Amino acid sequence: MSFNGAEEQADGDIRAGVVSCARCYEYQIVEGILDLRVELDDVVANEIAGWDEMYAHKPEEQRPEWLLALPYLTPELESNEIFCQIWKRNGDIFFQAVDALDLRDCAREDRKGKKVLEIGASTCWASAYFASLGYDAVALDITRKKYYGLEAGGIWMEAQGSYFERVLCDMHHLPFIPSTFDIVFLCNTAHHSSNIRRLFAEAARVLKPDGFVLDIIEPLCRLFKRDNVCNREVDLGINEHIYSVFEYTHAIKQAGLKHELFLERHLGSAKDGLAEYKREKANSPNPIKRFIKGFIYWRFIPQRVRIFCSMFTDQLSTFNVIARK
Ligand SMILES: C[S@@+](CC[C@H](N)C(=O)[O-])C[C@H]1O[C@@H](n2cnc3c(N)ncnc32)[C@H](O)[C@@H]1O
Repeated sequence: MSFNGAEEQADGDIRAGVVSCARCYEYQIVEGILDLRVELDDVVANEIAGWDEMYAHKPEEQRPEWLLALPYLTPELESNEIFCQIWKRNGDIFFQAVDALDLRDCAREDRKGKKVLEIGASTCWASAYFASLGYDAVALDITRKKYYGLEAGGIWMEAQGSYFERVLCDMHHLPFIPSTFDIVFLCNTAHHSSNIRRLFAEAARVLKPDGFVLDIIEPLCRLFKRDNVCNREVDLGINEHIYSVFEYTHAIKQAGLKHELFLERHLGSAKDGLAEYKREKANSPNPIKRFIKGFIYWRFIPQRVRIFCSMFTDQLSTFNVIARK
């Protein structure tokens, strides 16, 4: 590989240039983003076009103030109440995971130099958060567009005064040498893959021996994969799958990883679950409901049973997993 940097800032940030491989291609760096998208298959090309089409009708979401509020939107920023609730749920699960894994309260020296890869970074809110904590973050996606692709990273970096790398490529072919990352993070992204076995194999390959994959907020939970996902995303060409818990765990095991599964609202140990219940209890206005919920849900039903039961309900839940070598 050789590199021709055409534009480099005083702080070392390379804004433009070409990375050439003697045996294959030349890859452009444009506005600080390395573009490794070559020979994209139709599935990935359709996904990119689908997101473009989707965001063509979402002017509200294409404002710096909307972006920089993620993952917690307010009604002033987002008029769709359901979206506000979905984002809040996503933010809550993310921060529960962050705390369960002690990613923010650990000493800053423990974070420094730790490498985090975010696959499917989109608006870059999570990569920006990791960068703000001092991690060496890399945001990866196939979409570069401002506000819903890696160019959003520029808005975050400017606002926070932080830095993280950005790479455009297909998540099934990660352009990193083995054992590069301490954390491989995915949020709401694995279900866009048509080949989760390949995806988790790649995530495991680039993971350091003592690292972990954190994959959260993937739609679940049915006994069998649902192939006929019908929603606006699919109509636009975006890839949506609802994999079963077994398909996820099989793919993770095949990748040589051991997993811990967590249902929504229960990331961390039973103790954490109880702590969360106690916090809820303090805010909840209905003492009978909270008592029953707390007892049945957190105390008596083991996690495995909850996962199993959720597969039979028609209500979507989310799949959250921490996987280690
Ligand atoms: C639902 S969005 C999730 C975005 C972000 N993680 C979040 O939670 O806000 C899924 C992202 O995966 C990206 N994606 C889909 N297929 C991909 C692929 N083959 N390689 C890399 N990224 C992909 C999409 O471009 C999109 O940004």
